[in-house]
Amino acid sequence: MAIALNPVVHGFFDVATWTVTYVVYDHEGGACAILDSVLDYDPKSGRTSTTSADQVIAFVAQKNLRVQWILETHAHADHLSAAAYLKSKLGGQTAIGNHITAVQSVFKGIFNLEMSFKDDGSQFDRLLQPDETFAIGDLVAKVMYVPGHTPACVAYQIGDAVFVGDTLFMPDVGSARCDFPGGCAKTLYASVRKILSLPAQTRLFMCHDYPPTEREIRFETTVAEQRAHNIHLHDGIDEAQFVRMRTERDATLAMPVLILPAVQINIRAGVFPPKDDNGVSYLKIPLNAL
Ligand SMILES: [Fe+2]
Repeated sequence: MAIALNPVVHGFFDVATWTVTYVVYDHEGGACAILDSVLDYDPKSGRTSTTSADQVIAFVAQKNLRVQWILETHAHADHLSAAAYLKSKLGGQTAIGNHITAVQSVFKGIFNLEMSFKDDGSQFDRLLQPDETFAIGDLVAKVMYVPGHTPACVAYQIGDAVFVGDTLFMPDVGSARCDFPGGCAKTLYASVRKILSLPAQTRLFMCHDYPPTEREIRFETTVAEQRAHNIHLHDGIDEAQFVRMRTERDATLAMPVLILPAVQINIRAGVFPPKDDNGVSYLKIPLNAL
């Protein structure tokens, strides 16, 4: 009989962007994956820093872990990825879902990126196919293709743990928005049903938490808890109800503060744009484009 491996999961919550970075591993001294890392960014000054990523590096050192993978669930719009920085310090392969090419293509147009920018995903070491499996030391990870929030979103199923990316949030928060380029509420509904068809005790790890004022930050729940209590997607809410709610709600949401800088960095796997001839790397702000 197959033995389900239950990975050790350590989450780091970034208070500036409400994002959770995870380190996933089987045992101390073994291999690990880092998911959805954060490069700190101050939009007022345009300055980046590595305080958040350095906490992850310190943890990896403390547990004597070997970084095998630096994974993204999608091209985030609310924080910059530290994937390139972490790779330079720790090694490992960067990876994201193969549909990132569609996102790169859209934003290459929106930002009118340099001709040499390739929308073929080659900025990442690996593009992961739906249902592809890969090893993290003794752990087996499986790619779940879960589009809706973006057309390229994936979740990672590692033993009894699933890193859901921006699909579900904690039960009292609900679900991710679906109004970015290529987003689709109907598609997200189908993706979430796929996640919620997993065994009831499957541990689900959120990519964000935006807690109501009366509760502490939480980012771990279960399939059973989501099916019973998710305010947008509990059992019994049908596709049409969800799509209506999500569409109405998305129409009220402002763009994330960091969407313009974040996307430009994240579709490059965390690498800064090529420097201008003065040696400075610039981000663009397209006027009236989003
Ligand atoms: Fe997102």
